[in-house]
Amino acid sequence: MKKPSLPVMIVTGIILALSALVIALLVFISNQPKPMRGVEPLVVIAAMEPDSAQWGLNFPNQYSTLLKTETNNTRTAFGGSEPVDKLAVDPMLKTLFAGYGFSKAYDEDRGHMNALTDVRNTPRVNETTPATCYSCKSSDNPKLWDEMGMAAYDKMSFADMTSKITEPIGCANCHDAATMRLVVTNPALDEALKAQGKDWRTFTRQEMRTVVCANCHVEYYFAGEGKYLTFPWEKGTTAEAMMAYYDEIQFKDWEHPQSKTAMIKMQHPDYELFTADSTHYKAGVACADCHMPYTRDGAAKFSSHDVKSPLLMASQSCGTCHTDVDYVVERVAAIQKQVNDTMLATERAIVDAIGAIETASKAAGVNTALLDEARQMHREAQMRWDLIAAENSMGFHNPEEALRILATATDLARQAQLKAVQAGLGSSQASQP
Ligand code: HEC
Ligand code: HEC
Ligand code: HEC
Ligand code: HEC
Repeated sequence: MKKPSLPVMIVTGIILALSALVIALLVFISNQPKPMRGVEPLVVIAAMEPDSAQWGLNFPNQYSTLLKTETNNTRTAFGGSEPVDKLAVDPMLKTLFAGYGFSKAYDEDRGHMNALTDVRNTPRVNETTPATCYSCKSSDNPKLWDEMGMAAYDKMSFADMTSKITEPIGCANCHDAATMRLVVTNPALDEALKAQGKDWRTFTRQEMRTVVCANCHVEYYFAGEGKYLTFPWEKGTTAEAMMAYYDEIQFKDWEHPQSKTAMIKMQHPDYELFTADSTHYKAGVACADCHMPYTRDGAAKFSSHDVKSPLLMASQSCGTCHTDVDYVVERVAAIQKQVNDTMLATERAIVDAIGAIETASKAAGVNTALLDEARQMHREAQMRWDLIAAENSMGFHNPEEALRILATATDLARQAQLKAVQAGLGSSQASQP
């Protein structure tokens, strides 16, 4: 047999060496700890990567369901994602929000992928709007906050920030890229928890399935000249605790032009209402249990990232825990109707209070001390009403607490009305016991 030539030996050697290397590599890869639910990472995702499509290469199911939030426009009795004009549905809102942007435009919220388009289209944004308004709208934020610090971010104007922001809500708002763990990405949430002596890094996975939504679905305000994003949680997260906080710092979002009351606009306190000892919260149920139920695609089981009204997928959202899904869905309808009726009664009381304060303020010899008391009651009543009105579930997240808050609000508004009438009668009569 002819001895193999040198070139052939070299080539064979290289092939053998390469094969060994490939085998070693395969063994190495198969011995690596499996990432979540067995999806092999195809690409390394950079820390705080804003582009969800990059993450989507590794996690196609989560990405494709997130994309569905752009078009999941189905309306439910009190929710869903159609941009309904709330001002046309309920004209009392124009009086309640007189002098403030919300009397110009107030649409129903939509799915996560629309957040950026919607904030850029609302007529509430103008030249004076700070960049802070982008805080809940984009997966560009975690990286920007990391690079420039939140204080510098918030000091910029909305218009100047626009060129830096291209992505809607995405993976980087909720996940750590290296571990895929749920994380608090909004510095304001981190600080608000710290102010209460809490550290989310010690929270359980089930707690994080709720807290991650508190990055955005909360009450907040812009503190000081720098418009620093702040959650008013130092005294707690109940209606009373947040009211006490705002009173202490004498905060106002605007002054009501008719009653001259220093007003507070509530944002979307979904987290605060839900965690105020609701039945589901006490039972250990998380936001993600109802809004991101497990879904199957062939062999893969994953959390649906098509976050929307659970009523549009009740068998997945509620069926894991409730055997009679039709019954609990009927309960939602009954609860929402009761809360809505109660809420409209509160609105009528506040509109009456505003009218009475305005009338009294024009009366000769008005008792200004009593009128100021009436204004404080108007402030407190409307803050409580708005907590429930701005919250997104029409009371379902915590029916008992919603009805309790509305009852207090109605009472305060009617007291404000009485006080105003009394004030209008003048100082002499009003000071009588
Ligand atoms: C027990 C199930 C459940 C839990 C837990 C839950 N929700 Fe909901 N949520 C609902 C239902 C039901 C609605 C009403 C949907 C409707 O009216 O179409 C709703 C409505 C909403 C809406 C408005 C949806 C829309 O279509 O307009 C938002 C936003 C929301 N929830 C966020 C949260 C957040 C944030 C948490 C946790 C702090 C949470 N939810 C916890 C069941 C739940
Ligand atoms: C980065 C901020 C952010 C985070 C984190 C976030 N949301 Fe949202 N969410 C929003 C914004 C903003 C909207 C409204 C978008 C719009 O109307 O264009 C919204 C809308 C929604 C809606 C209404 C969708 C619809 O179809 O009407 C639901 C339900 C919801 N979010 C639930 C959740 C839940 C549950 C979590 C936690 C798992 C969560 N969100 C986390 C910012 C966020
Ligand atoms: C609004 C917050 C939010 C956003 C945005 C988000 N996720 Fe999630 N994700 C969650 C929650 C909540 C879970 C459930 C985690 C748990 O149970 O520990 C989850 C779970 C996961 C898991 C674990 C497997 C599973 O399906 O339960 C993966 C992987 C994942 N997400 C990938 C992504 C990717 C990729 C993106 C972007 C395309 C993304 N997520 C965007 C909140 C979010
Ligand atoms: C992870 C489990 C879980 C999920 C998911 C869940 N629930 Fe519940 N639900 C509970 C538990 C636990 C209770 C308390 C039962 C009790 O104490 O009898 C409860 C109670 C209720 C009640 C009675 C409330 C009261 O105050 O008496 C209603 C109504 C309800 N759920 C509706 C729903 C709807 C609608 C959904 C889906 C959008 C849903 N639940 C999803 C676990 C769950």
